[in-house]
Amino acid sequence: MTELILGAGGMLARGLASERPEARSLGIRELDITDPAALGRVIVPGVSIVWNAAADTRVDLAETDPSHLAVNDVAVGEIARLCRDAGALLVHVSTDYVFDGRAGRAWREDDPVGPVNAYGRGKLGGERRALASGAQVLIVRTSWVFAPGGVNFVDTMLNLAASGKTELKVVDDQRGRPTFAPDLARALVTLADSGARGLVHFANSGETSWFGLAKEVLARGGFPHVKLVPCTTAEFPRPAARPANSVLDTSLYERRTGGAPRPFTEALDEHLRIRAAAAGAPAA
Ligand SMILES: NC(=O)c1ccc[n+]([C@@H]2O[C@H](COP(=O)([O-])OP(=O)(O)OC[C@H]3O[C@@H](n4cnc5c(N)ncnc54)[C@H](OP(=O)(O)O)[C@@H]3O)[C@@H](O)[C@H]2O)c1
Repeated sequence: MTELILGAGGMLARGLASERPEARSLGIRELDITDPAALGRVIVPGVSIVWNAAADTRVDLAETDPSHLAVNDVAVGEIARLCRDAGALLVHVSTDYVFDGRAGRAWREDDPVGPVNAYGRGKLGGERRALASGAQVLIVRTSWVFAPGGVNFVDTMLNLAASGKTELKVVDDQRGRPTFAPDLARALVTLADSGARGLVHFANSGETSWFGLAKEVLARGGFPHVKLVPCTTAEFPRPAARPANSVLDTSLYERRTGGAPRPFTEALDEHLRIRAAAAGAPAA
């Protein structure tokens, strides 16, 4: 039996490839998931698990360019249909942005959804197509993902500081749980292997704001001298609205696996060690 990792090259897919070295990893050049014929050639009987880590994660662009829907919404339905026909398990990943951010507590799997941006609506469409397909499906919602070599907030802060910026203005009124992609990959594997199906939330432990995360990143990354200025979402307008409260409740994950996600600060230190090793320098 074969396992497939779709979206190879992305932050999560690289984590999955280390967890499942025997799986066949397919990047967009080998397999564009918006091409149904190409999907049909690889998701065939004999495939046991499809790990879908492919996504269009350009949240702001999604507001004006509907092409994200082909990847995040329509293709997920096609992948799920092929998984059903092949008898394969689909492990798919979704987002905290399916919620409107207005709850006064962390979001549980069965809380009402209400995305406030186009990316969130597209990802919700993908979830719904997968769940309605009749395939065996595990969907893990996660938030604020970072890993070395990806486009993410942690590296953006480090790169801005390294480029000589002495002051950075960062939003302090959106809260969430940062998630290290290798930890997420391990969580997906643990959940899938334990027989979990349906929706499950996973994020590293510890909630913070983007400002709070930037503070940890710069202090741990060797840039304590960069001045951080907290600001409101209104003071830092972006094309896509973001939920104010993006904090995911991971108690279902903890009950299912008997394990607790480690603190994001610990994962951040590992991220910094990997970056430093890649650059040939000791971590700060
Ligand atoms: N990043 C976050 O903060 C975040 C937060 C919540 C949930 N998630 C979800 O977590 C999952 C993993 O995302 P990630 O953080 O690993 O994102 P990522 O680093 O952007 O990886 C996504 C990968 O998908 C590839 N891809 C895009 N369009 C494709 C297509 N048509 N066919 C095949 N591959 C395609 C991308 O290739 P190119 O780079 O060549 O475009 C990229 O390698 C996604 O489902 C995402 O929605 C992410």
